[in-house]
Amino acid sequence: MSRSPHPLAGPIVAPSILSADFARLGGALALVDPARDWVHCDIMDNHFVPNLTFGPLIVAAARRLSAAFLDVHLMIERPETLIAGFREAGADLVTVHLEACADPAAVLAAVRSSGARVGLTLRPGTPFAQAEPWLKDLDLFLVMTVEPGFGGQAFMPGMLEKVRAAREWRERHGARYLIEVDGGISSVTAPQCRAAGADVFVAGNAVYAQGDPAQALAALRAAIR
Ligand code: DX5
Ligand code: ZN
Repeated sequence: MSRSPHPLAGPIVAPSILSADFARLGGALALVDPARDWVHCDIMDNHFVPNLTFGPLIVAAARRLSAAFLDVHLMIERPETLIAGFREAGADLVTVHLEACADPAAVLAAVRSSGARVGLTLRPGTPFAQAEPWLKDLDLFLVMTVEPGFGGQAFMPGMLEKVRAAREWRERHGARYLIEVDGGISSVTAPQCRAAGADVFVAGNAVYAQGDPAQALAALRAAIR
């Protein structure tokens, strides 16, 4: 499908297909409304994180199944080796982990020159200040609210302080990045993140592990409004 010209403005829910049934990816993506939601794709390499998911082949399948904005979260070492591949597969935005970049400036420039929007993230234990040199040029700053690697973990309330720091930095410096939160996001934690400044809310289990995923997604949209 052709890409959605999604406005880069929150609040946005980004269902994470990590928690979906991959035998029914079409059904999982059919819930997502391209006019207001994104699709979050979690890429894990069993090196940067102790889990292994999928690569550009599945992102390309998602691209064929949905017109929604594809938000690709790379939890991989040497991300520079796969940026072009994910962009060609249909990624609209590529987020890299600062800890995985030997040369962050070069990696972020490679994402930009691929044509994708540019995102940066930190593990929960990495201080916000380490991202400051790169924030000015980002489209998205992702605050991990769990340790990356698995869906279904408990939200870390201490990360709300990082969300507030990202919002304050954005205001002080006139930056334009969206603030995304990822991990343990639910109808309870999403409003807390919204109050702290988050614009984009990744949700895996809170959508796809529910009895009625469409209703769960609707509840999340309502919770952040
Ligand atoms: C975790 C991933 C998340 C994951 C979130 O490493 O980055 O995107 O899918 O899953 P939930 O919403 O279940 O915590
Ligand atoms: Zn993610």
